[in-house]
Amino acid sequence: MKDWTGNRIRCFLTVLVFFLIPYLLFGCRKVSFESSEGDAITPMDKNLIVVGVSQVGSESVWRTANTASIQKVFTKENGYFLIFKNARQKQENQIKAIRSFISQRVDYIVFSPITETGWDTVLQEAKEANIPVILIDRKVKVQDDSLYVTWIGSDFIHEGRMAGEALEECLSQRKNTKDTVHIAILQGTKGATSTLGRTQGFASVAETHKNWNILEASDAQFTTAKGEEEMERLLKRYKTIDVLISQNDDMTFGAIEALQKEKIPIGGEDGIIIISFDAVKNALKLVEEGLIAADVECNPNQGEYVEKVIKKMESGEAVAKLYFVPERVFTRENVSAHLLKESGE
Ligand code: AHR
Repeated sequence: MKDWTGNRIRCFLTVLVFFLIPYLLFGCRKVSFESSEGDAITPMDKNLIVVGVSQVGSESVWRTANTASIQKVFTKENGYFLIFKNARQKQENQIKAIRSFISQRVDYIVFSPITETGWDTVLQEAKEANIPVILIDRKVKVQDDSLYVTWIGSDFIHEGRMAGEALEECLSQRKNTKDTVHIAILQGTKGATSTLGRTQGFASVAETHKNWNILEASDAQFTTAKGEEEMERLLKRYKTIDVLISQNDDMTFGAIEALQKEKIPIGGEDGIIIISFDAVKNALKLVEEGLIAADVECNPNQGEYVEKVIKKMESGEAVAKLYFVPERVFTRENVSAHLLKESGE
């Protein structure tokens, strides 16, 4: 009889010490989070804002810089607890990540959707859980726009237009004018906002030139390996390619490999004109060398903008539905000054 009572008291005390007291002191909400690095949130961190980020993957140099800009801002020192998940280019992984953020009841969900469609259900679940969703980089096509609070990213249509205008400029500087300009395009991930926007923007300039002949827009998935493979295929298929529009620098690196292997001249007065996107450092060096004629910047530093938006929301301020990050075009005329400035920083 005595033993039974002792056991019950011990049992009660265990529950009190391990479950009830922490629950009452810190609430059930933020004591059980774990970051991607395995860092558990501690009771001391209970005032941190918990941000769940689902990144597309690590397909490009640009993406790595984009991830770094998020990780730089959402630190404990700045008042955040970041749960970062890399979807490795799979929409189902992003959906899984968002559901895990919902079940952990994070304060904000930030994500860069791999493609525009297929998000209605999971975003509805986030809305029902009262968790604000902030989109970065790419957009979603949903029935109900209230499923996300805001979008922060690049004006991809404008980027495509800038590429078209850069090509106009290059062609006008050449002495040998061609009757027909044969253009090959390496496209990024199918259905991604960046692919759709850049394609649309470039097409809007191309259609004003009757002699611009787009041979093919081929899918090279924003990666160097695919860029090289597709360029090799295009070179076998078409006798003349005057221009390559490559929708990111990684594909451009692969395409240059393929062109150099075939000893095809690049740039100069008669070589193939390459216009690229992203403007990562190693590509800008190729602009300086004259291998890339123009590189349209895609600004990866979106972390600071996301934080500004979160701060506004935390203080009850209204936020806009759309924020564009600033971008420009690099050519031989302005690239050296830019690289010098960057190296000094
Ligand atoms: O959506 C932005 C694009 O995605 C970048 O241009 C590309 O490098 C990345 O993978």
